[in-house]
Amino acid sequence: MTFSTDPKPAGLPIQLFLPKYRVDECLDQIRECFTAGWTGLGFKTLEFEAAWKTYTGLPHAHFLCSSTAGLHLSFHILKSELDWRDGDEIITTPLTFISTNHAILYERLKPVFADVDEHLCLDPLSVESRITERTRAVVFVGVGGNTGRLEQIADLCRRKDLRLILDAAHMAGTRLRGKHVGSEADVSIFCFSAVKNLPTADSGMICFRDEQYDSLARKLSWMGIDKDTYARATSQGAYKWKYDVEHVGFKYHGNSIMAAIGLVQLKYLDQDNGYRRQLASRYRTNLSSCGPVGLIPDLPECETAQHLFQIRVNNRDELIMALQAGQIYPGAHYRDNTEYPMYSHGGGTCPGAHRASEELVSVPLHLGLSKEDVDYISSCVRQYAGK
Ligand SMILES: Cc1ncc(COP(=O)(O)O)c(C=O)c1O
Repeated sequence: MTFSTDPKPAGLPIQLFLPKYRVDECLDQIRECFTAGWTGLGFKTLEFEAAWKTYTGLPHAHFLCSSTAGLHLSFHILKSELDWRDGDEIITTPLTFISTNHAILYERLKPVFADVDEHLCLDPLSVESRITERTRAVVFVGVGGNTGRLEQIADLCRRKDLRLILDAAHMAGTRLRGKHVGSEADVSIFCFSAVKNLPTADSGMICFRDEQYDSLARKLSWMGIDKDTYARATSQGAYKWKYDVEHVGFKYHGNSIMAAIGLVQLKYLDQDNGYRRQLASRYRTNLSSCGPVGLIPDLPECETAQHLFQIRVNNRDELIMALQAGQIYPGAHYRDNTEYPMYSHGGGTCPGAHRASEELVSVPLHLGLSKEDVDYISSCVRQYAGK
């Protein structure tokens, strides 16, 4: 794919994210839902799950209303099925969106923070140093689409008999040694919110390795009911209305309108991620010789989804203000979660993540940007970084 040649309309601010929808194709897919009279669970959600399994090669996939729901279901299912106790420990990162860590608390488990490495992902040595008798799992976040040292963490989890949960919110389309990510973990959760690489409006996918857990996730995401409404609507017999409630479940399932959008977006995911990588490589070239700007190292074995392009500077807040004055609106991913009251027990334990959280800037990265936009943003960064 070549760079977009659309000039940026004069005076239009450059936002951090801007979702791209193939409007007519999405509307055609959505029209099918309206015509069939089916917008809920089933129908397009099943089609999208099948398409996602084919695309990723993962054995199971269940479509949800969000990836936060998927993270919660992961801890809920693993805790109940593996007999974890309240207060059992989950090793996690402070450098993430709070959903990752809130999901641990929802299940009355204890987040134990480990530090990150130069890829902004969990550092295996730090993780190992945090393991105790009560550690049950590690949750790994592929920040920005990066795999970091995921393989080493997976190996550590195997050796120590810990479960691995992959928060793959940024990783739709990330490949590691040619294979889509996800199979390294016991469960992987992808995010399809409006600002992610496969934007719907709000939805996510939970992919368990184990078929039994996948089938439990299906029931739990629909209130614990054993038979979903689509299965009942498409079945026959006097008892087609009847169902059993096996668990106290949640209303977490995805719907056919979101799945319809997802089916269209999935067709373009590789192409879109390829374009993101081109933009990133342009940023890299423009900024590599700019002394005050630190870049996150590329990993040769990882074809990243490139959800973010992050840089590190010492004067982060001034740089953000200067960019805003130039109509450029960057972001910062993420604030050290141990600064929030419910995670303050981890304060001071992860100096690398804390420093990163004070230095990181995410510069705009989306499909509406042209090469010229990236050059313009880079020149502003070069001008103001380190000032
Ligand atoms: C790393 C990470 N985990 C989880 C989530 C939660 O995703 P959702 O909005 O689908 O619940 C996000 C969303 O921003 C995220 O970036």
